[in-house]
Amino acid sequence: MARINSTGFWLLLPVTLLFLMQGATAAEDLRKLTDDARTAAKRLIEQTRTELTRELERSGPARAVTVCKFSVPELASSISRQTGMRVTRVSLRPRNRALGEADPWEQRILLDFEKRLAKGENPETLEISEIMDEPVGKTFRYMKALIIGKPCMGCHGSTSDLSEGVKIQLANEYPFDRGTDYQLGQIRGAISVKRSLQGP
Ligand code: HEC
Repeated sequence: MARINSTGFWLLLPVTLLFLMQGATAAEDLRKLTDDARTAAKRLIEQTRTELTRELERSGPARAVTVCKFSVPELASSISRQTGMRVTRVSLRPRNRALGEADPWEQRILLDFEKRLAKGENPETLEISEIMDEPVGKTFRYMKALIIGKPCMGCHGSTSDLSEGVKIQLANEYPFDRGTDYQLGQIRGAISVKRSLQGP
């Protein structure tokens, strides 16, 4: 085993301390970024729920399709503008390919969420955050799983159970829809948050 003499020790000490301090700062940064991302994701989930419940009660699932089509992407982009983080919803089986298609990192995480869920992890805590090196520089990424609950079934449940009105709306609006035939408790997708750590 390599040995260091006392001079070596005193030379290495500041380097080691600096290294440890940097590690602590990085962990602190990640915690802060994760908190911000969690807050943004929570806002989107709560605002979506409010809008959806209101529309489902007022005019039923067929009309509520428009909430998901117009209001949710609008809420997501408004949260993105206000927080400086890109907040989106993604899925392995997107209904809207333009907005909902998962990128390679998101696909990997969604598959991993499925494994974690199968191992018995609490669906409420299925999330991940990571700082990554991307071609443009360091980027923070966060994802939180969205689980199929009862209110989702009218539009994402088994095709044979969808109401005629919803079926017609979906066929018109989303001819390439892959977002049906889910069962209660399955992962429908995730909220994905991305933030560049370059500049202000
Ligand atoms: C009234 C119908 C309706 C209900 C109820 C509904 N959705 Fe959706 N969902 C949609 C539509 C329409 C889209 C496509 C939105 C778009 O064009 O971006 C969508 C898209 C999504 C997406 C984005 C990925 C994709 O497939 O494009 C996720 C994730 C999602 N829904 C999850 C849920 C969850 C979880 C629930 C239950 C809490 C739910 N939805 C309830 C209609 C619905």
